[in-house]
Amino acid sequence: MKAKKPSQSVTINTEVVLPNDTNNIGNLFGGKLMQWVDITAAIAAQRHCGHVVVTASINQVSFDKPIKQTSIVTLEAKVSRAFSTSMEIFVDVFVEDTKTGEKTKCNEAILTFVAIDQNGKPLPVPPIEPETEEEKKRFDSALRRRQLSLILGGRMKPEEATELKALFYKD
Ligand SMILES: CC(C)(COP(=O)(O)OP(=O)(O)OC[C@H]1O[C@@H](n2cnc3c(N)ncnc32)[C@H](O)[C@@H]1OP(=O)(O)O)[C@@H](O)C(=O)NCCC(=O)NCCS
Repeated sequence: MKAKKPSQSVTINTEVVLPNDTNNIGNLFGGKLMQWVDITAAIAAQRHCGHVVVTASINQVSFDKPIKQTSIVTLEAKVSRAFSTSMEIFVDVFVEDTKTGEKTKCNEAILTFVAIDQNGKPLPVPPIEPETEEEKKRFDSALRRRQLSLILGGRMKPEEATELKALFYKD
């Protein structure tokens, strides 16, 4: 299967924080942000593989800065690494100052999607060729995150996680 570049899956979604999207202290509700993150990441995964995809795991979400009501929020997703049938997607979340146009990064999420056929059976996905320095860094570290996610999901034994072990133990 022909390799694709992360830039081919870039998906940008812009939203405004309405009163219904907020929590009791007037900030964007985390669950609403997760919905936007999941949809934006799913579209990026689908652009990469050309098939229907399902969320297999939400590997990491960090809510670094609160997002206030009326904010303009931009979510930027792209595939960071493809395995056999699964893909890791990074979603960077920014808030835009509409007066200056300046964008501040507020959150980051990392998800795993799997391409499936009409019977829900996993399908092979194209490999990926990172281009930029950031894409290469995310590609290189994806195996560690995959192993951690598989351990937490009960799909891998900790002693099989070679990449994770290499972080802590030297031969
Ligand atoms: C995700 C799903 C398709 C995996 O199906 P499966 O029959 O278990 O298939 P496999 O064991 O071959 O796993 C398929 C891929 O998913 C990966 N995967 C599964 N669970 C994972 C997890 N928790 N973290 C990371 N990767 C995971 C596997 O490593 C494998 O990747 P690879 O082929 O690239 O090596 C299946 O569990 C499913 O349909 N889950 C429900 C998805 C859903 O409904 N999501 C919507 C929101 S809840």
